Amino acid sequence: MRIEFRRHNPIILAPMITPLLIVQTQVPPDVIDLGLGNPPLSLLPLGMIREAAQSALSQKDNAFLQYGTEQGDGTMRLALAAFLSREYGFTVGPDRLFITSGISNGLDLLCTLFTNEGDTIFVEEPSYFLALRIFADHGLNVISVETDENGLVPASLEEKLAGFHPKFLYLIPAFQNPTGHTLSQDRRERIVALAKEHDFLIAADEVYQLLNYAPQEPPKPFGAYKHVENVVSLGSFSKILAPGLRLGWIQAHPARINRFVNSGLLDSGGGLNPFTSAVVREVIESGGLGKNIGALKAFYRDQIQAMDEALHRHLPEVKYTIPHGGYFFWLEFPDHVDVGELRKKAPPFKVDFRPGALFSSNGGLKNYMRLCFVYYEADQIEEGIKRLKQCLDHLPSK
Ligand SMILES: Cc1ncc(COP(=O)(O)O)c(C=O)c1O
Repeated sequence: MRIEFRRHNPIILAPMITPLLIVQTQVPPDVIDLGLGNPPLSLLPLGMIREAAQSALSQKDNAFLQYGTEQGDGTMRLALAAFLSREYGFTVGPDRLFITSGISNGLDLLCTLFTNEGDTIFVEEPSYFLALRIFADHGLNVISVETDENGLVPASLEEKLAGFHPKFLYLIPAFQNPTGHTLSQDRRERIVALAKEHDFLIAADEVYQLLNYAPQEPPKPFGAYKHVENVVSLGSFSKILAPGLRLGWIQAHPARINRFVNSGLLDSGGGLNPFTSAVVREVIESGGLGKNIGALKAFYRDQIQAMDEALHRHLPEVKYTIPHGGYFFWLEFPDHVDVGELRKKAPPFKVDFRPGALFSSNGGLKNYMRLCFVYYEADQIEEGIKRLKQCLDHLPSK
């Protein structure tokens, strides 16, 4: 039997975005896919995970092979709470953490527990396109709210609230996917006030919170609003350790955590991923997680520079702001450039990227493109941008 190892996230088609996507489970070796949102294989810390697994497996206590505690193993939550408290600069209690199989799982569970088919939710325009897929699976009515370089625009939120009552607002507050923008502190305050006033949840996807490359830190994550029951902050080990672990967490008020704990999924299957939790706990307690994040930041910081220089050299007419964290550059092309059409012409040039329209909930953003700077090394980034320029040169000019 031939076993295939899948190296890249398969991109699955949503009915609403079908015309814009090319199905792919593999990037052919001669193609540079600047659209990928994965860490490179070279930065997945096999040695560190091996040592942690060996340490977990050599203990006499085999409780992690049992069905797990619904909220997530207590010692794992203690280790994670101590780690997050150090990183965030405020105390995170283990009673406020719930272990998930990653943010995708957390969002899916949130939809299951807090929405019904046909309910309205709000998302940023643009937003993470695969979260939109999860919301589509739940039959939710997705309404988009405007953003700018400081994140979601509160005035646009207020305008939408005049017409709809959303069950939740899905936000990526720090180094957003796809724009790289970060929500300012004053806007966070306003959004929390509106959530309380209009009684909707804030689902803050903080997947890139700890990946900042500039000396200044982003505002504190939404978990800092400790007394606000409407806030659900979702975190993940996917981008700070390894996505294959399928491990993450939800941080929220204990009353909210209680709803996650008391769900049918956990009643039947117990807490999520107790085995992986035991391994990752070792990584946290040994100081490996902090070291890994430090190494990723040093590498990614240089990659940003490489992409910025390549864009300057080959595509000086394109507009973007240099990201201070996360994974992505968000490029704005002149109005007449349809990036979805451009992508159809890209295969002979052996380059790929993600059209902005994928991230739109209202059919807009056709002249935008998302590029990821973490996956390829500097020389491949340079080559990829050069190919992108060649591809653009073949578009009929306006
Ligand atoms: C904004 C955002 N949320 C969630 C995810 C997926 O997170 P996880 O692997 O924890 O499910 C990604 C991955 O690219 C992402 O960019």
